[in-house]
Amino acid sequence: MEPLHILIIPGSVRRGSLNLTLATAASHAATRMGARVSVFDLRELELPVYDGDLEAAQGVPPGALKLQDAIAGSDGILIVTPEYNGFPTPLVINSFDWLSRIQGNGARPAGLATTANKPAALLSASPGAGGAMRSMNFLRQYLQMAFQMIVVPQQFALGRAHEAFNPAGELADPRAAQSVEAALGALASLATALRSK
Ligand SMILES: Cc1cc2nc3c(=O)[nH]c(=O)nc-3n(C[C@H](O)[C@H](O)[C@H](O)COP(=O)(O)O)c2cc1C
Repeated sequence: MEPLHILIIPGSVRRGSLNLTLATAASHAATRMGARVSVFDLRELELPVYDGDLEAAQGVPPGALKLQDAIAGSDGILIVTPEYNGFPTPLVINSFDWLSRIQGNGARPAGLATTANKPAALLSASPGAGGAMRSMNFLRQYLQMAFQMIVVPQQFALGRAHEAFNPAGELADPRAAQSVEAALGALASLATALRSK
């Protein structure tokens, strides 16, 4: 059987992003578990802030179609996001809001048809002690209720993330590494079960 394809989406891609570092460490862990992994850069989509007038005039921007294609081509997604004032980043929410505006036609399913029943897992990181846990809780609700994704219960918030990585960019604490692997393992199990249906 083909290896699972896991799409990893960091919610921050700034230089030195702690979440991008965690996403990269998770990509190494997923590769070790036998998955094929792609790390997806939402910033490269160059999506404007959602605006109904812009949508009416120009339609959904091509970047949203790229995100849809990437999700459609994956067996499951992993989102790794900071929290801004307790909420997932605008980069994540704006990208998914645009995705939800893709209407189905003969050539392409609707954005929400692509996400329905797609397995997902969540990680977060913050220099604070809470590890951006609140962002995952909002994101779980958003992805499950609006996008009908199946978000696995296992999640991990990496607190004091600025001290958590060794010089190679890997998690220094084995318990943190195990928590990442647990979320990935749950995602892989669900994706495998759904793929065999
Ligand atoms: C607008 C804004 C709001 C923030 N709010 C929170 C917050 O609610 N909780 C938290 O732990 N950190 C908060 N932070 C700090 C981020 O966790 C920190 O900047 C982190 O490094 C961002 O993630 P990144 O390194 O992956 O870019 C906030 C940062 C910004 C820019």
